[in-house]
Amino acid sequence: MGYSSSVYKNAADKMAAKRLAAQKQADARRAEIYEKYPRVRELEQQIALCGTEAARTVLRGGDVVAEMTKLKDKNLKLQEELRRLLISSGYGEDALEPRYSCAQCGDTGYYEYHGRTVMCPCMKRELADCACEELNRTAPLTLCTFDSFDIEKYSKTKDFASGVVPYAQMERIYKYCRSYAMNFTPQSESILMKGATGLGKTHLSLAIANEVIRRGYGVIYVSAPALLSQLEKEYFSRSQVNSGTAEMLSDCDLLIIDDLGTEFRTQFSAAQIYNIFNSRILCHKPVIINTNLTMAELEKAYSERFVSRINGAAQKLDFLGEDVRIRKK
Ligand SMILES: Nc1ncnc2c1ncn2[C@@H]1O[C@H](COP(=O)(O)OP(=O)(O)O)[C@@H](O)[C@H]1O
Ligand SMILES: [Mg+2]
Ligand SMILES: [Zn+2]
Repeated sequence: MGYSSSVYKNAADKMAAKRLAAQKQADARRAEIYEKYPRVRELEQQIALCGTEAARTVLRGGDVVAEMTKLKDKNLKLQEELRRLLISSGYGEDALEPRYSCAQCGDTGYYEYHGRTVMCPCMKRELADCACEELNRTAPLTLCTFDSFDIEKYSKTKDFASGVVPYAQMERIYKYCRSYAMNFTPQSESILMKGATGLGKTHLSLAIANEVIRRGYGVIYVSAPALLSQLEKEYFSRSQVNSGTAEMLSDCDLLIIDDLGTEFRTQFSAAQIYNIFNSRILCHKPVIINTNLTMAELEKAYSERFVSRINGAAQKLDFLGEDVRIRKK
């Protein structure tokens, strides 16, 4: 997994903050307990003394084994008294220890496994969250929700060209998207949202993103022009710095590519789009693509195999109606 250094830094900072918070809470708890139960402090001091005493015994020589057994007994008795006292105080026997949010790594992000240091799942989750945050910083995620989507904006009169009532069609699409978001799994199907500008494609895809993120999945939302200029920059700069864009695109649970067809189109961009889509489809990972282009235009702009890939793997949603922004006026 390759993420940009700023993503690593953010994740490490968050882990450190969690760790510090747990330690501060433990310190505060200890102070409070000392105040109410002075015996706890005495016990802790005596337990510490047993440790230094043991070291001295070894240095002194003589009947080390007998002395050590005595000390060990004493230590165990003190520990037991402390444990009972903490339990009866209601603080719990682990009250003096920091309560880390991850028991496996103690909020360090790493743990030892068969003599090797491995990254903890909680750190991986933190990295994915930070990567997600970084890419989503520009999207108006919070404004576009299912609740703020108004179905009354669509006409109840039959559309002349298609013979379909926009209201009915959009109601179906709305319900589909809502249920898609509520039942999302990382193996959900892909979606192609197509239709003219201003019909709510971006709005509904962000509503899906919101709900899926809320349910704990990693979502990346990106517009095709921004995505391709980023990929181009990385590809042609031949820099050795791995900013992790490719990994994020393939690793996230849901990838949303908005405004496909509005990017500066080249052979490079067409190949990149196909590769991103195809490699996710091969691993059964969902993509949502939004476009103003028709299927024929998509085929011309990208390739026949791209369109046949979409036909085979994505649910097509045809957005109908008039530009919502015009209708508002
Ligand atoms: N049905 C709707 N209810 C409320 N707001 C909508 C609806 N459809 C679109 N909008 C709003 O109108 C604007 C344009 O919609 P957008 O989703 O960007 O359209 P598209 O992506 O299809 O071009 C956005 O601000 C969006 O929030
Ligand atoms: Mg849009
Ligand atoms: Zn952990």
